[in-house]
Amino acid sequence: MAMLNWSSGPAGIPLRGEIRVPGDKSISHRAIMLAALAEGRSHIAGFLEGEDTQATATIFEQLGVQIEILATGERLVHGVGLHGLRAPHQALDCGNAGTAMRLLTGLLAGQRFDSVLTGDASLLKRPMRRVLGPLRQMGAELDVREGDLPPLHIHGGSALQGCRVSPEIASAQVKSAILLAGLYAQGDTEVRELHPTRDYTERMLTAFGWPIEFSPGYARLSGGHVLQAMDIVVPADFSSAAFLLVAGSVIPGSELHLLDVGLNPRRTGLLQALRAMGADIREGPTREQGGERVADLQVRHAPLHGVDIPEVWVADMIDEFPALFVAAALAQGTTRICGAGELRVKESDRIAVMTAGLRQLGVTIEEYPDGARIEGGVIHGGKVDSYADHRCAMAFAVAGQMANDAVLIRDCSNVNTSFPGFVPLMRQAGFKLSLA
Ligand code: S3P
Repeated sequence: MAMLNWSSGPAGIPLRGEIRVPGDKSISHRAIMLAALAEGRSHIAGFLEGEDTQATATIFEQLGVQIEILATGERLVHGVGLHGLRAPHQALDCGNAGTAMRLLTGLLAGQRFDSVLTGDASLLKRPMRRVLGPLRQMGAELDVREGDLPPLHIHGGSALQGCRVSPEIASAQVKSAILLAGLYAQGDTEVRELHPTRDYTERMLTAFGWPIEFSPGYARLSGGHVLQAMDIVVPADFSSAAFLLVAGSVIPGSELHLLDVGLNPRRTGLLQALRAMGADIREGPTREQGGERVADLQVRHAPLHGVDIPEVWVADMIDEFPALFVAAALAQGTTRICGAGELRVKESDRIAVMTAGLRQLGVTIEEYPDGARIEGGVIHGGKVDSYADHRCAMAFAVAGQMANDAVLIRDCSNVNTSFPGFVPLMRQAGFKLSLA
C-alpha cells in the first residue's frame, strides 16, 4: 500500500469557526466492551468511527455479540450478559490499539474459552508485562512472546481471585484490565495508583449498575454482579481537540469554538499546561453527560511562553505531549518536560519521534530519557517522519501551519485510528493541509 504523506502549511489565515472533533476513543472502547457484557440492548451515540474503536467492535462481533450500525457514530449493542461471550474462531486483531489489547486481556482472562490477541507492527512491539503481572496474580493463564510481547494467548477457564494491586506504572489501561478481570473474580479487587489516571472504566461501570467504590487513584469492586444495558452519549475527544487548542493558540488572529469536549479532570492536563504558558482558553457552561463533564471550549490566539511541566501533570496529559512539544517550539523561552518516560512506549517512541522531527525543522531541542528541553523560536519547512504515530503526525501538521515553508509529513495513515476526517476538518478551520 502506498504511504500516506501530508504537506502542511504555512498557513495564511487565522483559524475560525465551530468544530466538533470525533468521539472520545477511551470512552468508545469501553462503551462497546461494557455494552457487550450487559443484559439488554445499549445504544451508543457519538461513537468514534476510528480504526482503533472499530477493531474493538469487530472483536466483540467475533465473540458473538450483535452490534448494529444505525448510522455513522451510532451503534446498537445487543448485550449477551457477563457470561454470554462465545469462543472466537480466529485470533482477535486489535490493530494499532493498545487500549483494546490491554483491557481485553483482563476481560478475556475471565472467560471459559481460550483466545489470542494480536495487532499491527507497532502494537506487537508494545510492552504487556504491565498487565501480565497483576492478572497472573489473580490466577489468569497468559502466554506471550519473548520479551513479554504480543500476540497474547489467554487460556480460559481459570478461576480468578480478587486481588489488591498497586501497579508500578500510572496507567488507566492497566487499572482497567485489572478491574475488568475483577468482574469475573471471587472476592474483592482493589487498585491503588501512584498517580491517578483516567477513571472512565469506573464511571461507566457505575452507570451500567455495577457496584464500585472509587476516588482519584483508588478503585475497588467485587465480582458476581450484573451490568444493565444503558444509552451512552460519547463526548468529543479532548485529545483530538488538543491539536486545535494548540493551533488556535499559536496562529495569529485565530478564534475557535470546540463543541461538546469531554473534560474528565484526568484528561485535561494540557489545558493546565497551555494556560500556564499564557493561552487564552475559556470553558462554556459545563454539563453532565453519562457521568462525564462536557463543555464547549473557546480558544483565541495568545503569545505563549515556555514552562516547566511538573511530573504530577504528566498522567493527566499523557496523550498530549506531541501537541505540547509543538506549542513549546513556538513559545518564547524554554519548556522542560520530565518524568514522562512512558512516552517512549506509546504508538511510537514519542520523545524520539518529536525530537527528531522538530530538529529537522530547525528547533533547538535536547532529548532526556524521560522528556525533553525545548527552546521556542522559528519553525522552518522540511521533511519529518511520524513513524506511523497518529498523534505525532497531527502535531507536525500543526507545526507546519506556523513554519516558514511547507512541512512534508511521512506516514500519516494511522491518523484514522483516532481522528478520521482530520484533513477536511482542519481545512475547514483554516489549515493549509493536503495529501502529498
Ligand atoms: C488509555 C490510557 C492511556 C492512553 C491511551 C488510552 C485508556 O494509556 O495513553 O491513549 O483509554 O485507558 P496508558 O494507560 O498506557 O497510560
